[in-house]
Amino acid sequence: MLAVFAVDLATGKDADPMPTLLTTSDAVTGVTGRFLRGGEFKATLGETLLLHGPGGLKAERLLIVGLGKAKKLCPDQVRKGAGTAVRFAKPRGVRDLAIAFPEDKALSDEHLDELPCAPTARALVEGAELADPDYDTYKTDRNDKAVASLTIVAADAERSVQEEVRAGFAEGRIVAGAQNFTRSLVNEPGNVLTPTVLGERTARMCAEVGLECEVYSTEKIKELKMGAFWSVAQGSEEPPALIVMRYEPEVGAGAKEGAAASSMPVVGLVGKGITFDTGGISIKPADGMEKMKYDMAGAGAMIGAMRAIAQLKPKVRVIGIVCSAENMPDGKAFKPGDVVTAMSGKTIEIVNTDAEGRLVLADGLHYAKTLGCTHLINAATLTGAIGVALGRLNAGLFSNDDEAVERFEDGLKVSGERFWRLPCTDDYADQIKSAIADIQNTGITRYGGSITAAMFLKEFVGETPWIHLDIAGTAWDDEQKPWMAKGPTGIGVRSIVEWVRGYSV
Ligand code: BES
Ligand code: ZN
Ligand code: ZN
Repeated sequence: MLAVFAVDLATGKDADPMPTLLTTSDAVTGVTGRFLRGGEFKATLGETLLLHGPGGLKAERLLIVGLGKAKKLCPDQVRKGAGTAVRFAKPRGVRDLAIAFPEDKALSDEHLDELPCAPTARALVEGAELADPDYDTYKTDRNDKAVASLTIVAADAERSVQEEVRAGFAEGRIVAGAQNFTRSLVNEPGNVLTPTVLGERTARMCAEVGLECEVYSTEKIKELKMGAFWSVAQGSEEPPALIVMRYEPEVGAGAKEGAAASSMPVVGLVGKGITFDTGGISIKPADGMEKMKYDMAGAGAMIGAMRAIAQLKPKVRVIGIVCSAENMPDGKAFKPGDVVTAMSGKTIEIVNTDAEGRLVLADGLHYAKTLGCTHLINAATLTGAIGVALGRLNAGLFSNDDEAVERFEDGLKVSGERFWRLPCTDDYADQIKSAIADIQNTGITRYGGSITAAMFLKEFVGETPWIHLDIAGTAWDDEQKPWMAKGPTGIGVRSIVEWVRGYSV
């Protein structure tokens, strides 16, 4: 099957659609012309039209895939379009798929240069890879169909263009492979993926890609005096896991001429790895609680990002830290009213045991600083409130450093992911003042719940440039998209990887 992209040139709300192919191939335009003029295909994003036995083409089938309005044309549309082609092909048993590399010169001048070669090739491959998994691992009648080969057909034979497409292709495979690894972890049920198993799978992945990895448990957590992390872990039969991954750039690559290695940035990636969140003694309602198996999606994002970093080899040191535990109610569980001491020495009054993510991250962030991290990022399914504030399209971003945010936003242009910055200024700090300890783990009022959670984390990063990603509303998608299966999204991986690469010397 050959897939060819099309966009809608029409502008204005009531204008009739003007579908136009992103190819200059006469053979393709020849067989599709009357369908495009006939109005049955409008080229909206994710729309498809299949033609059998197209005359003059080698392919048995020709699939036209809509990318939406020409005005909005960008690599992310191509990512989704490629995914749509794969998800169309997969259940129909198509084994070999070719996608025509989109030619924006098929359009008028004003749309030219919207699709730079390498980023477009990368987005195309990412979209295709991300479209492949279906989360039916636990179904006994699972349908194991898959597309076996993907070929990009590029009309431009110029050597430099070919090289760019190849480079983009290779990068896309790495990044999407990492994101799919994250998604496979996030999909696992809580009885399968315990903190211990998360540690084992992470260690195995690290060995495969050449990352150093240490997995610790109760003893080390107590030795490090991680009282906040331990308070969450203590109520479960399953031991916690503190996972530390290290990426070191190749010798000689680390420093610029004359620059000391010690002046190089060390980027710390910290993930919330609650493999199941019952809420603890402040137990959650039964309705929807099964979803709390994805409360380790922040950890998953960091593990996936480390995998991609190991393969992309940026010239920057990176340390990945995952704080993993199960939040359970039990005779030994922590209780509302308890006061615990974090690794940093700060005392915390536990007001609600369901606000556990910020507790494990408090110690993870502080630990990252003690390991020498100069820049920090954390990802966490931290608050239900972030979904209320931003819906399912944007994830939340909080930071104490505008420059770090600028770099992150540069990366979003490549990743195509959407994060929206919310305030995290010191005038919100009153919200987490405790009557008996330094701080408390929930806001005094319920307003701005995602912000108070971010303010809590901020207490533990100090002056270190830091970004907090709240992905509770975006890590799981219940809606099937034409380009991606429903379930775990792997949000964060692509943007975190780009952010880290931004610090490469
Ligand atoms: N894991 C939840 C947040 C969450 C909610 C993730 C929905 C994914 C989907 C977190 O630990 C939590 O329970 N947060 C509480 C905080 C509250 C007690 C201050 C919440 O959001 O209700
Ligand atoms: Zn919780
Ligand atoms: Zn949680």
